[in-house]
Amino acid sequence: MKTPKRYLITAALPYANGLKHIGHLAGAYLPADIYVRYLKAQQRDVVFVCGSDEHGTAIPIQATKEGTTAQAIIDKYHPIIEQNFKDLGIAFDIYHRTSDPLHHETAAAFFSNLEAKGDLETKTTEQYFDETANTFLADRYIKGTCPSCGNNEAYGDQCEKCGKTLSPEELINPVSTLSGKAPIKKSTTHWYLPLNRHEDFLRDWIIKEHSDDWRPAVVGQCKSWIDGGLQPRAVTRDLDWGIKVPIKGAEGKVLYVWFDAPIGYISATKQWALNNNKDWSPYWNDKETKLVHFIGKDNIVFHCIIFPVMLHLNGHILPENVPANEFMNLEGDKMSTSKGWSIEMEDYINKWIKKENGGEALADCLRFYLTSIAPESKDSEFTWKGFQDAVNGELVSIFANFINRTWVLMHKLCNGKVPPIHQDLLDNEDLAIMQAVKDTTAKVTDLLEQYKFRDAQFEVINLARLGNQYMQKKEPWIVAKQIGTDPNAQAKIDNCMHACLQLSANLAILIHPFLPFTAKKMCHLMKVVDKMLEWENAGSFNLLKVGYTLRAPELLFRKIEDEEIAAELAQLQANAAVKKTTMENTTTESTGPNPLKPEIVFDDFAKIDLRVGTIIEAKKVEKADKLLELLVDLGFEQRTILSGIAMHFNPEDIVGKQVTIVANLAPRKMRGIESKGMILMAEDAAGKLYFVNPTEGIAPGSGIS
Ligand code: MF3
Ligand code: ZN
Repeated sequence: MKTPKRYLITAALPYANGLKHIGHLAGAYLPADIYVRYLKAQQRDVVFVCGSDEHGTAIPIQATKEGTTAQAIIDKYHPIIEQNFKDLGIAFDIYHRTSDPLHHETAAAFFSNLEAKGDLETKTTEQYFDETANTFLADRYIKGTCPSCGNNEAYGDQCEKCGKTLSPEELINPVSTLSGKAPIKKSTTHWYLPLNRHEDFLRDWIIKEHSDDWRPAVVGQCKSWIDGGLQPRAVTRDLDWGIKVPIKGAEGKVLYVWFDAPIGYISATKQWALNNNKDWSPYWNDKETKLVHFIGKDNIVFHCIIFPVMLHLNGHILPENVPANEFMNLEGDKMSTSKGWSIEMEDYINKWIKKENGGEALADCLRFYLTSIAPESKDSEFTWKGFQDAVNGELVSIFANFINRTWVLMHKLCNGKVPPIHQDLLDNEDLAIMQAVKDTTAKVTDLLEQYKFRDAQFEVINLARLGNQYMQKKEPWIVAKQIGTDPNAQAKIDNCMHACLQLSANLAILIHPFLPFTAKKMCHLMKVVDKMLEWENAGSFNLLKVGYTLRAPELLFRKIEDEEIAAELAQLQANAAVKKTTMENTTTESTGPNPLKPEIVFDDFAKIDLRVGTIIEAKKVEKADKLLELLVDLGFEQRTILSGIAMHFNPEDIVGKQVTIVANLAPRKMRGIESKGMILMAEDAAGKLYFVNPTEGIAPGSGIS
């Protein structure tokens, strides 16, 4: 293929509604960064854009959770996420935001243009409306029972338990999460993008043109969407957070977040052009621009179907490729910030990178492991043990080890200078390692062009492995003992060390897109400027001049200790436990009707021994505001039971009351008192407590079933 004149590379705009985890990093940002660094090392004209996605319901929902405004949420998370990317070496040319006026203008103009050309349709439909809150309900604001798996916490757009995509109409017993009440249907008018008109265009473009060069999973998803029959997609919403629909009479309506967000790539390019005194237009309008979208697989339909139709209609270029990644799981489970089962970029940065001098090496360690398990063709799994093994087993023992041995020996046997090469003494080993550098360069280049970052990185490490083998065969430290007896000894050492040094320089170039901090440090060791890292230098054995003095050895990576891994695993468990309790607490507080617990069988129930008891004594427990110590008559025995009801009842008022006891609950000690059993209480929505008791007095100890 002809070399494109310029490149526009995008990475999915993350929602500025919270911290982003390393699964996000591995999915879109890291591969995009590797690709961009590779292109820039080739002196290509590249713009790498990203930024915050600040609209949609994700933002106001987070605002409610944090008890603040949507604006405050985006202002809080935008700069944190931007800085996190920087600390991990993700080098965007611009990190823009969709709340920026330039983006509002750009997106509104895009919409108006489509509307004026007749590319949109309007339709009036009945949608869920919350009468108490006096507002239409976005999909995320409706909860109900999933028709597929019975989960009664499913949202109007998706069931997070079984993963099924839903529409609010499919939910059984929908309730508004704003008021907890059942919503009514009310009619409303919206603008639609009639995807059905563009089936042929999509089929020709994706299936005919790209089924060979796009990832099979991406083509597969697109094909199944197209084959399933494309429907008009609503591109406006009744919501008060977003970009106002630029049409008279559309008050109270905003552009659908998935309509405006991808246009954010264009606004970001415009802002970049303004900042750099450039013209943005060829990047989106000239056919000689290669546009590539890096995303996770949940974004495929938006980047391969909907946005391309929009681009096509507005006369822009289309993406050449959309190398979507699958998901990265964590220690056997799906990564999820809300469940506490994740590693936030922010946490990794604070705990690993910021903690020690030269901590950037640990940014590269994370980049290395994430790329080595990149979910390019199927889901993959991050484990802390895997991280440790990758760093210790490959970066430390292979890559850093080769560089370190080279530097140590070069100082010891060649006076810290690049030794000369003695052509007459070059042997097959020397020629083979030179050839290996050329072959690896060709392979890595080819793999990067195909977005196979995992394999590409493997090849670079493999070259370092070959370097170690070469050195092991040549054993310059043994040859050194023959100086004096073998007249060629020093020349042999020179040749070996010369090769190892030129190989090191090549390794710096080839590893640079993957591990930018490491490449920089290698340049420092070699006393060369970044210019040496240009891709066209790879494969050359003339990178370091003979006689040039190099710096003293420094270790590129340190080992990851077992204790560090154990601490991370413990932290992960602890985070998940904390989130679990807070989630349980917030669901009972704010979401109205309490959902049913999972179904049990009769045998589960039959294990519980419920008995009627009579309270015969009650008193407060010292230094425990909530506890009452009760003496309960069960007929066959009297028991002490502690109950957390001191805020609700006076001890003297409840003596003589009959209650229901869980009589076979394992005893538990609180405040030094052993509690044998539990008293059942009913609680209304306002939090008032009631005893559960027989309507008429009955003999204590009577069973309940
Ligand atoms: N914010 C979306 C997500 O995190 C991605 C938006 S990508 C863009 O899933 F194209 F819309 F910008
Ligand atoms: Zn479900």
